[in-house]
Amino acid sequence: MKNIKNLLQLKRLYQLKNMGYNYTDMINIDTDQPESPTLSSNMDELRKTVLQCHFCQLSKTRNNVVFGEGSEDAKVVFVGEGPGATEDATGRPFVGRAGALLTKMIENVLEIKRREVFIANVVKCRPPNNRVPTFDEVMKCKPYLDKQLEIIAPRLVVALGATAFTHLTGEKSSISKVRGELFEMKNYKLIPTFHPSYLLRNPSAKKEAYADLLKIKSFL
Ligand code: URA
Repeated sequence: MKNIKNLLQLKRLYQLKNMGYNYTDMINIDTDQPESPTLSSNMDELRKTVLQCHFCQLSKTRNNVVFGEGSEDAKVVFVGEGPGATEDATGRPFVGRAGALLTKMIENVLEIKRREVFIANVVKCRPPNNRVPTFDEVMKCKPYLDKQLEIIAPRLVVALGATAFTHLTGEKSSISKVRGELFEMKNYKLIPTFHPSYLLRNPSAKKEAYADLLKIKSFL
């Protein structure tokens, strides 16, 4: 029992370190404690915290934090990689060219209004030159996405592209191999599909993305 408590203590300390803390008062480990004790379960409070975040280097180059947007009652949450230039300029997720395609996928194929779903990213600040976020950046930012998913409690999460898939599932498989499959996560189901930016560069993959969307539609 003492060993388990020590391991939990160590896990919690690493979580806090990943969130940017260098110091904590004594923490009392209790196995029923929530995963992110320091983050509010109120979306507006959480937004305030995220908008002020300086835990990683992306905060130094961002113009705006892109918290995510949509319904707190959403049955489905779409998760991308990280904000691009237009998102960084506006503070809103998926509003550039890839965003226009995502909106069409949601509204024309799934026949749901964009405002009825929730759209978020693995990292909330733009990686310079749209590079893939580093492991350290993801570790610092991911607790925010986890908390958003905990608050919304969707039935389904759609992972858009490999970065979202890997960091949500902990699996490294290529997106073309896993796309369209249903994954059972602890609190929701997850279906990965191609990232809209990939579809803009590779229009021939739209056929497969369409098949994934039909699967998502029938699940919902
Ligand atoms: N690509 C992403 O992954 N997220 C956005 O918000 C925009 C483009």
